[in-house]
Amino acid sequence: MILLENVTKSYRTRLALRGISAFIERGEFVFLTGPSGAGKSTLLRLLYRAEVPDSGRIVVSGQDLAAMRRRDVPFFRRRLGVVFQDFKLLRRRTVGENITFVLSLLNLPDKEQERRAYLALRHMGLQHRLSAYPEELSGGEQQRVATARALVQQPDLILADEPTGNLDPERSHELLELFKTINYQGTTVLVATHDRSLIEAHPARTLVLEKGQIVQDGWALGD
Ligand SMILES: Nc1ncnc2c1ncn2[C@@H]1O[C@H](COP(=O)(O)OP(=O)(O)O)[C@@H](O)[C@H]1O
Ligand SMILES: [Mg+2]
Repeated sequence: MILLENVTKSYRTRLALRGISAFIERGEFVFLTGPSGAGKSTLLRLLYRAEVPDSGRIVVSGQDLAAMRRRDVPFFRRRLGVVFQDFKLLRRRTVGENITFVLSLLNLPDKEQERRAYLALRHMGLQHRLSAYPEELSGGEQQRVATARALVQQPDLILADEPTGNLDPERSHELLELFKTINYQGTTVLVATHDRSLIEAHPARTLVLEKGQIVQDGWALGD
């Protein structure tokens, strides 16, 4: 569950979000769209508490983010699967290690970590790249590793920022189908994308941001 109440966020003098309010029920699948610079990434960063708002209230999975102590942030993040625009893979770790790293935080035995990492990679068609380093992979492959990493701990909530930005159309649709499957199993999914054709191909509730404000919230994309 996500609750935003009159959330405002600025960077120095630039107002990125202007009084955003929204409610996303547990188990929903929601797109966040709008032109470049509208505030999509900022909104997602607020939701995984990489940023704090200037004012307003944000509640994610029952936790009031403003009241959250800094030392509780890592625990909070363990319940989230975040797919970043720029992957954020660990450069000095192999593909497999990038994924087992997440699982090691959950105190799983090594063998179980390896098993789950393998399965997550196989799901993305990348099991043969287990021992490769991120820089040896194409952009699309890196994005799939980042996605496997986000999904491997079976999060309650997935936040994805332009997850198809480096994928060809076929892979993009596969990724969306994967998100939908995971959503069907109960995980809440929020996908930020400026790609309207993606939303048209996978209709779902869509929040449209423009200049830091939600200008539309519904199933049909108007123009
Ligand atoms: N770290 C930052 N420092 C200063 N301005 C920023 C920063 N991040 C984003 N902005 C500004 O905030 C606004 C919203 O940006 P962003 O959230 O990245 O939008 P989107 O993801 O929709 O393209 C833009 O005007 C952008 O230039
Ligand atoms: Mg963005």
